[in-house]
Amino acid sequence: MSVVRGARIRACAADTLQDGDVRRIDLPDRSPIALFRLGEQFFATDDTCTHGAASLADGFVEDGEVECPYHGGRFDIRTGAATLHPCTAPLRTYPAGVELGEVVIDLTHAVADEGRNDEV
Ligand code: FES
Repeated sequence: MSVVRGARIRACAADTLQDGDVRRIDLPDRSPIALFRLGEQFFATDDTCTHGAASLADGFVEDGEVECPYHGGRFDIRTGAATLHPCTAPLRTYPAGVELGEVVIDLTHAVADEGRNDEV
């Protein structure tokens, strides 16, 4: 992982993630990011579940959703929306794309901040 410019980071080589994979990206100055590959697309969300302190990178990816390893709540990987109880608050999502074979995540443009509840 390296910083491209500002809060844009190069997370990893795109070909190191396969369809359905998720990887936790630890960062020195903020909470970790979960990076998902769905087909040929990459998606980045906050890694920490909005219901508790679980790492979603340890979760189970199926049908475009990630299931939290703690209590089985689920989120839509593309939008961050909570899709299954006990998760109700959405995850923040971040634009991610491939540049020169590497996945770049833009941490300056979080989406889905509305409706979040950071209290757990
Ligand atoms: S900590 Fe994720 S569902 Fe409870």
